[in-house]
Amino acid sequence: MRRIWIIVFILFGSFIYLQASEGPEAFKANGCTKCHAIEVAGIEFAPGEPEEGEEAEEKEPVDLSKIGSEVSEEHILAFLKRQEVSHGNEKKHKKKFKGTDEEMQILAHWLASLK
Ligand code: HEC
Repeated sequence: MRRIWIIVFILFGSFIYLQASEGPEAFKANGCTKCHAIEVAGIEFAPGEPEEGEEAEEKEPVDLSKIGSEVSEEHILAFLKRQEVSHGNEKKHKKKFKGTDEEMQILAHWLASLK
């Protein structure tokens, strides 16, 4: 009967692991690293080639390592939806979010936890 606990333990462990990696995965998959770095999470700035229509300007990465101590999860969600302006420069986000609503929520939740 002890085996069942080992299985439960492994399942639970992988669930926690997946939850923890979801935010960073979504961040990279949605091209956020083209303008952002998150040092505390070991996520590096990766500007890559400029997309069509974009100027090939020298970009400074905007680090989001402490964004959770500056704004709330609700603010981030509204900001990604472009309903809210940045708390920094009072402009709408440069990036139009192309992922799913679920991804947006995962991102807002994870970013708000960075303090
Ligand atoms: C084309 C460049 C660009 C891309 C791509 C980009 N951002 Fe941003 N983002 C910015 C800039 C510039 C700011 C800083 C505005 C300011 O000075 O406050 C910013 C600010 C933010 C903020 C802070 C908002 C606030 O109120 O301070 C969050 C959160 C954020 N971005 C999340 C994301 C996420 C998540 C993605 C990926 C889906 C992403 N960004 C992709 C340019 C970008």
